[in-house]
Amino acid sequence: MNPLKKITIHDILQKKNGNERLTVLTAYDYPMAFLCDNAGIDIILVGDSGGMVVLGYPSTIPVRMDEMLLFVGAVSRGTKHSLITADMPFGSYQSSVEMAVDNAIKLIKAGSDAVKLEGGSEIFNKVKALVDSGIPVMGHVGLKPQTSVLWNGYRTQGSTVTSARKIISDAKSLERAGVFSIVLEMVTEEVTELVSRSVEVPIIGIGSGTKCDGQVLVLHDILGLYRQLQPRFVKRYLDLAEQIHVALSNYIHDVRSGAFPSQENTFHMPPEEYSKLKETIEKE
Ligand code: KIV
Repeated sequence: MNPLKKITIHDILQKKNGNERLTVLTAYDYPMAFLCDNAGIDIILVGDSGGMVVLGYPSTIPVRMDEMLLFVGAVSRGTKHSLITADMPFGSYQSSVEMAVDNAIKLIKAGSDAVKLEGGSEIFNKVKALVDSGIPVMGHVGLKPQTSVLWNGYRTQGSTVTSARKIISDAKSLERAGVFSIVLEMVTEEVTELVSRSVEVPIIGIGSGTKCDGQVLVLHDILGLYRQLQPRFVKRYLDLAEQIHVALSNYIHDVRSGAFPSQENTFHMPPEEYSKLKETIEKE
């Protein structure tokens, strides 16, 4: 895609079954969004995973709207080119269609281009109402961290006929409701391929194998910044935690030993002013 142009929903839809896959990464703040955007990432997902990797919650369940709004504002200030999609946190869309629309509008006003909700046929009305209100929606089926953790933990989905059929019908239902793409999380590759063939919108996989139109991962996982959970589907491209540890140890050493600051980091008074100052002090 043209790195100078803002990515649109139309561009994303064109990626279905294309030669080049969609690149999606999460970001939650200005500097990381700036770096993702600059590198040419297609979609920056302001995921509720930020609650875990940035805010230190044990799951995504406690994440609140005010926290998501803070993340979205920072990410939008660092982004020119990537399409921004923000997760609707648990509790921000469950109660009613009106609640879903009101909260999605808040995320859009904070700077997101689209929103993502977890769920299938049970959220059809909410997704449709959002799309009818002019808000682009990304679906999310398979493993749904906002609720799966309460039922059965983080487990592979689509291993049985019943589970596979549910995922396929959920994806079709989301497509009918008007989503522009669907995240499939931790779904067996066989089912991912069937889902992908059943819908016209791009499938973005996370732990769902190779038969997707794009891939999404959590930024802090690929950079080696979050080590509390290390799913097998993550590829780590950098050990940033180790590099930060080395940098901080060097800083501690330099400050303790007096090696930092050096003259390079120090400001001085003009010598004449300093002489005058000394004179006045001596007189006093
Ligand atoms: O919150 C998140 O980061 C997500 C991705 C893992 C898809 O929903």
